[in-house]
Amino acid sequence: MAEIKCIGIVTSGNDAPGMNAAVRAVTRSAIYNGFRVKAVFRGYKGLIDGDIHEFKTQNVSSIIHHGGTILKSSPSKDFRSEEGRKKAFENMKNEEIDALIVIGGDGSITGARIFAQEYDIPCIGIPATIDNNLFGTDTTIGYDTALNTIMECVDKIRDTATSHERLFFVEVMGDDAGFLALNGAIASGCEEAIIPSVMTSEEKLTNFIHNGLRKTKSSSIVLVAANENDGGAIHWAEVVKNKYPEIDVRISILGHLQRGGTPTAHDRIIASRMGSASIEALKKGLRNVMIGIDNDDIVHVPFSKVIRENRRIDHDLLDILHNISI
Ligand code: F6P
Repeated sequence: MAEIKCIGIVTSGNDAPGMNAAVRAVTRSAIYNGFRVKAVFRGYKGLIDGDIHEFKTQNVSSIIHHGGTILKSSPSKDFRSEEGRKKAFENMKNEEIDALIVIGGDGSITGARIFAQEYDIPCIGIPATIDNNLFGTDTTIGYDTALNTIMECVDKIRDTATSHERLFFVEVMGDDAGFLALNGAIASGCEEAIIPSVMTSEEKLTNFIHNGLRKTKSSSIVLVAANENDGGAIHWAEVVKNKYPEIDVRISILGHLQRGGTPTAHDRIIASRMGSASIEALKKGLRNVMIGIDNDDIVHVPFSKVIRENRRIDHDLLDILHNISI
């Protein structure tokens, strides 16, 4: 196995709060351990375009508290093609990068897996997405911050909901996984969460309104996981308006508010731990694994497993939401 002297670092896919803390940890741990560090800008696109710059410890000063990513990120169609990946590999060789740390979500890990297999490059993934939908880790960088943002927003919306005795449908991100919707609903005392993987039906929703809302509550908040297939909060609000015209229904779509902002202590800490662990993993000779956290321990999850398996919704959490929102 070729000796690793220089490590590349890239943030790819959608930004997530805490990515900068991970960039800082990777850079500083690598330098501490005697490696050179090269930062790839604008995701895999930067690898193809040669947008690569040497990083010293000062390059990551005063970034731990900022959301987004100082390395910037950008989707790269070209990295999906063999030709694009060939160019990326040539640039890596020209820059003398021997290993790559990829910070991102499922698309980024999928890209890393294909690239690593094709060119026999040691790659380590660090899970960063607000969706928390990666298999093999209890949590991803950015999820806790997004959850807290949702909670703060819903707390504010609740003031109007209770004052005006309204039913709010609040749409949150989270892809089709629904973790933000479910845990966001529990954290903010919502009455219901509509999650695609749990098969929500109009019948269930109207049952909920009939049995719960109309009997014991004069206001209510339902979190809806944004979902292309069912029209999200707008659709569910229409369903209720048609069936119960007497209910005062409102919609709030939180959107990209949820992706930004100062990372929480939890996200900074896991980003720092995972960043350091990625360098330790390379030192141990590990390749093509994602760093995860399982029961507060660092674990190494093969890329193949991360991509093949789905992280499932915990049905006990759904029960808790329903039982304590009566
Ligand atoms: O992956 C994070 C995420 O916020 C998803 O929850 C959401 O579906 C998607 O990104 C939105 O991406 P875009 O910024 O392209 O609208």
